[in-house]
Amino acid sequence: MPGQSEADQTQLLEQQRVLARFGESALALENLDQILTEACRLVGTALGTELAKVVEVQADGHTLLVRAGIGWRPGIVGHMRTELDDPAPEGLALRTKGPIVSPDLDREDRFGVPPFVAEHGVRATVCVPIIGADGQPPYGVLQVDAREPRPFGEAEVDFLRTYANMLASAVTRLRANTELRRRAEDNERLLRELQHRVKNNLQVMVGLVEVQARQVHAASAKAALRAVARRIEALRLLHDKLHLAGEVDRLDLGDYLGQLAGGLLRFHEGEAARIQLILEVERGIVTSPDAAAPLGLVVNEFVTNSLKHAFGTGPGTVGIRLGQAAGGVGLELWDDGQGLPAEAPRGAMTAGQDTPGTGMRMIGNLARQVGAVPVWGMSEGGRGTRLALTFYRQPSPRLDGT
Ligand SMILES: Nc1ncnc2c1ncn2[C@@H]1O[C@H](COP(=O)(O)OP(=O)(O)OP(=O)(O)O)[C@@H](O)[C@H]1O
Ligand SMILES: [Mg+2]
Repeated sequence: MPGQSEADQTQLLEQQRVLARFGESALALENLDQILTEACRLVGTALGTELAKVVEVQADGHTLLVRAGIGWRPGIVGHMRTELDDPAPEGLALRTKGPIVSPDLDREDRFGVPPFVAEHGVRATVCVPIIGADGQPPYGVLQVDAREPRPFGEAEVDFLRTYANMLASAVTRLRANTELRRRAEDNERLLRELQHRVKNNLQVMVGLVEVQARQVHAASAKAALRAVARRIEALRLLHDKLHLAGEVDRLDLGDYLGQLAGGLLRFHEGEAARIQLILEVERGIVTSPDAAAPLGLVVNEFVTNSLKHAFGTGPGTVGIRLGQAAGGVGLELWDDGQGLPAEAPRGAMTAGQDTPGTGMRMIGNLARQVGAVPVWGMSEGGRGTRLALTFYRQPSPRLDGT
């Protein structure tokens, strides 16, 4: 009949429009329940029935849950469970991996329907399996139920199958996203645990070296061991800051360097009771621990030197300035002491060069690790010692590839 085929065509076009619309929303939505409910609503409307549902295979492989649906009384969607082996169309669709059509359930001899379906007066049904991506077990079944016996044409069944395929890709995409998120969270948790352990181990090392320093008798060995303990302490504090902030890969540099310098002054309190610390650090300059560690050690060496060499027994001031500067971040360390002796090694010292101590040489090497060149000079007023470094937030890649 020409009238009939025209109606069919209009219906087909409408179904295709519904599919296209669903395709768009399935790509955009991040919530599986929303996607599945929207699917039920659209297929129900397209096939002109009031009842549709998505039945999901549970992790045990044989329990089926009504995961989403429209037209069902409260207490069904999200709650109702049946068994894969029950003599019901959804189980059969999953077992045969093909569509199951039953235009009149009263005449059906392959299966019955679960009591909750019968309770809703369902008389005809069509369902298609939602097949998982390669190798995955089927996700579940997309099912449309009607309250009157009615045929389901080939076009309608094909429409549902296309729909089920789209649902399968949406499910695969969301599951992959969830898995990725879960792994990222796992990794971050592991890193945080590791961070915590590193912090504790560094604490233990500081303690061990300090014990050793107390036990040796030679003053030079004592001083050397205490210097090593302060260097490890600078790294321990870095990990402590990361741990307290619940972070694994970023920290506020000003906060860290300020606290580090304060700790050094307190540590040297006996020898340097009248030394004042002036902090002018910009907050919110965030760096990776890779950049913060060398900078922390630079501060450790500079401040230790000021306390040790700059002031004799008199009073003095040590300062740290940190802020955005042209071409990166500027770190300036200064004291108002007696200044570097003329013969003191300055500039970008390199390992192997003959220098009296280790501090100045370390500063040169550490500065290079963040891509900076140390610039030595005098503090304001032409006295004391001043060290300026400008570095990029990210450590610059090493040119020699080492
Ligand atoms: N802020 C300063 N004021 C005055 N003199 C300094 C200052 N910083 C360094 N110096 C001089 O530079 C020398 C070299 O410093 P460096 O840190 O390399 O060695 P050190 O402090 O003597 O030994 P180490 O660092 O190995 O404990 C010091 O011995 C000191 O004479
Ligand atoms: Mg030194």
